[in-house]
Amino acid sequence: MTNPILSLNNLRAGYGQTEILHDLSMHVNPNEIVAVIGPNGAGKSTAIKSVLGLLNISEGEVQLHGKNITNTPAAKVVELGISYVPQTNNVFVNLSVEENLEMGAWTRPVGIPERLDEMYALFPDLAEKRNQTAGSLSGGQRQMLAMAKALMVDARILLLDEPTAGLSPKYRGEIFGTIQKIKKTGVPILIVEQNAKQALAVSDRGYVLVDGANRHTGKGSDLLADREIASMFLGGGH
Ligand SMILES: Nc1ncnc2c1ncn2[C@@H]1O[C@H](COP(=O)(O)OP(=O)(O)OP(=O)(O)O)[C@@H](O)[C@H]1O
Ligand SMILES: [Mg+2]
Repeated sequence: MTNPILSLNNLRAGYGQTEILHDLSMHVNPNEIVAVIGPNGAGKSTAIKSVLGLLNISEGEVQLHGKNITNTPAAKVVELGISYVPQTNNVFVNLSVEENLEMGAWTRPVGIPERLDEMYALFPDLAEKRNQTAGSLSGGQRQMLAMAKALMVDARILLLDEPTAGLSPKYRGEIFGTIQKIKKTGVPILIVEQNAKQALAVSDRGYVLVDGANRHTGKGSDLLADREIASMFLGGGH
């Protein structure tokens, strides 16, 4: 059996006294893209935030490479190599593209110029705009910048919360394409998505979350082909 990079084991967690995740389990293996889909309010963002120590886990464990990191503070989690891109406010709008990337490298002791070159190769649009402010970028380019910023460290896993929300189909396609390129660089990805069809199409496995627990799990292609899931979650826009 492969050892997962990241696993959430039987988590009960929430905000204050309110429990949102009820016995939630999921994991990400090396070289996998794993999608988390489900209706609004299902607890998808909360699941990601539980890894970042941003809420109170009352039962269960979060493990990175088998090591218990439950309730570890966010800054420390990032130092351990878990890179997180929140859905909104994920770039510094008044800073240039390059300054944003440099900010992303705060836990990287050396090799920043080389890493910048690698990111510009992975995200060619950003190379052209390196001296422009992040605020002047299009929505899609901002999401690219947010991902590149998160990858400035040596990420062991990348967590993405709805990277294609509000984007045009063209940019959505580009983001999903870029996610596949990131996987090829050896970084596994856990992605929360509203655009379930496209997300499952690029994912190795997926989890369908409902009411803070796993409802279905399986290979991306099997979930896409499942009639019940299709009628519940895949009917809308694509
Ligand atoms: N900071 C918070 N404090 C209290 N309750 C919260 C907080 N953030 C989210 N919740 C509640 O937790 C539940 C799950 O929210 P969450 O944001 O994880 O859902 P989601 O699946 O990401 O939904 P969406 O698709 O709308 O992003 C919701 O009932 C929400 O109201
Ligand atoms: Mg959310």
